[in-house]
Amino acid sequence: MSIEKIHDVIIFGTGLAGLRAAVELNIKMKGKVDIALVSKVQVMRSHSVCAEGGTAAVMRPEEGDSLQLHAWDTVKGSDFLADQDVVDRFVSLSPQEIKLLEHWGLPWSRRDDGRIMQRPFGGHTFPRACMAADKTGFFEMQALYDQLQRYATITRYDEGFVTSIIVENGQFSGLTLYNLPTGEFLLLRGRALLIATGGLGTLYGFTTYSQTVTGDGQAMAFRAGLAIEDPEFLQFHPTGLVPSGILMTEGCRGEGGYLKNSNGKRFMDKYAPKMMELAPRDIVSRSIMTEILEGKGFKGPDGLDYVHLDLTHLGADKINKRLPLIREVCMKFLNLDPIKEPIPIRPVAHYSMGGIEADIDGKTSIENIWAAGEVACHSLHGGNRLGCNSTAECLVYGEITGGEIAKYISKNQRIPDSPKKAMEEEEKRIFEHLLNKEGSENPYIIKKELRKTMDETAGVFREGALMQKGLDKIKGLKEQFKKVVINDKSKIYNSNLINALETENLLALAEILLMAAIKREESRGGHARRDFPKRDDEKFLKHTLVKLNNGKPEISYKPVKIIHWKPVERKY
Ligand code: FUM
Repeated sequence: MSIEKIHDVIIFGTGLAGLRAAVELNIKMKGKVDIALVSKVQVMRSHSVCAEGGTAAVMRPEEGDSLQLHAWDTVKGSDFLADQDVVDRFVSLSPQEIKLLEHWGLPWSRRDDGRIMQRPFGGHTFPRACMAADKTGFFEMQALYDQLQRYATITRYDEGFVTSIIVENGQFSGLTLYNLPTGEFLLLRGRALLIATGGLGTLYGFTTYSQTVTGDGQAMAFRAGLAIEDPEFLQFHPTGLVPSGILMTEGCRGEGGYLKNSNGKRFMDKYAPKMMELAPRDIVSRSIMTEILEGKGFKGPDGLDYVHLDLTHLGADKINKRLPLIREVCMKFLNLDPIKEPIPIRPVAHYSMGGIEADIDGKTSIENIWAAGEVACHSLHGGNRLGCNSTAECLVYGEITGGEIAKYISKNQRIPDSPKKAMEEEEKRIFEHLLNKEGSENPYIIKKELRKTMDETAGVFREGALMQKGLDKIKGLKEQFKKVVINDKSKIYNSNLINALETENLLALAEILLMAAIKREESRGGHARRDFPKRDDEKFLKHTLVKLNNGKPEISYKPVKIIHWKPVERKY
């Protein structure tokens, strides 16, 4: 039998964006707000703790940086698909987030003069990545987590797997939640919902994401009727450790690391002669793949051919002080010391530029639902996000949405009616239809096939016919999923059941990504098509929207907001 719980606000996702929003809500409501924090993991296991290199902010106008320069770098990096009003707002709010975290005790790395250290990052024309060695995300999460301890207003639903977002009469009316430790089924109701569940990168086999990042919030929002914007833009980070995919931060190149092919030659001069290794990620990833495809890579396991990220010239002191995690990971996972030897790397699935369509305030098209962080698409990153703009976005949009929700609940006291019937149906779907049904298909095999399909058909370089093959395969896997069987029939911490639900979410998102990618017949940012190798502003200077219509995903487009800069050729 299910249990109903009522709060003022429900925050679904407890990474940087979710925690920052919770803090802001408390500040704005002076601690008089009842917040549910919902996560399928323990809070400090949210994937944000894995963010490494830094957070972008203009901190030194007197040394030559400016908001306008940060905005220009972001727009050019986005291949002109970012909405420029959103970019303006974002760059203007990011510096104050850095100062707030400083006040809340974050141990930033320091320059000799005591100021916060900032290092160069790809596509940024000024050293703009505020850093805490190479563990920036962890320290940011910790600072926010500490802040939240000041408030008695939070109810945590850790290890609670949300199965659906219920929308009735055009309003959010409840989240259904399978509480893993107790096996109970809960309905969480509230006046407002913030979705901040992060990305979807385990769509791919070779990925920097934690295995828990399965796009749940995005898939459920889509099923609840929200549009997904620009899903075809999936970022491949240039430097994933081979063979695990663990992130080798761009900070390695920010500190002066080189990329070298199997001839021992730096090659970025061919592709980005001015910025070299610090060109934007889409360009560096394509350059590495080109070297590999031209036979200038090293042979790796399972087809994971690679090039070298060489830090050996940086010296032990710099590596130990600024890249300690990188060294530790290389030593633990490969028994390789980057002080002495180059690191094997190749491009790796890392970030989703697309997400739930949300406006400049983080508001979705449903009255009482907001979205923040990677799960959202505020049209900030366009076709390619610049490194260290993501943790910055989580903080900025955590602050914005926390403030907007505070305004909303101050004016709207009424909690939407209980969606009892929808909740009962959802409980039946999970515990009767899915858990107890007879079937023949293994969800783990379906997930493996899905990830292999995405690796093979929607990678750094794309091509229409291959993506169509990928889409057909995904549709086949969706059919197979209908016959799935869950072997473990218990209710307490049933990880088989969770895996099946996650796989279902990933299948929905894979279909959306491929559909949008096939339709975008141009190359822009992270979407590089061999059959349409040029950017086509006439036809495709627009955002993709995918929405359900009669149960089927349907594609439409909306214009890009160009305020200052018209598209030009990107040269680095
Ligand atoms: O390379 C990195 O440290 C990643 C940063 C980012 O994705 O912003």
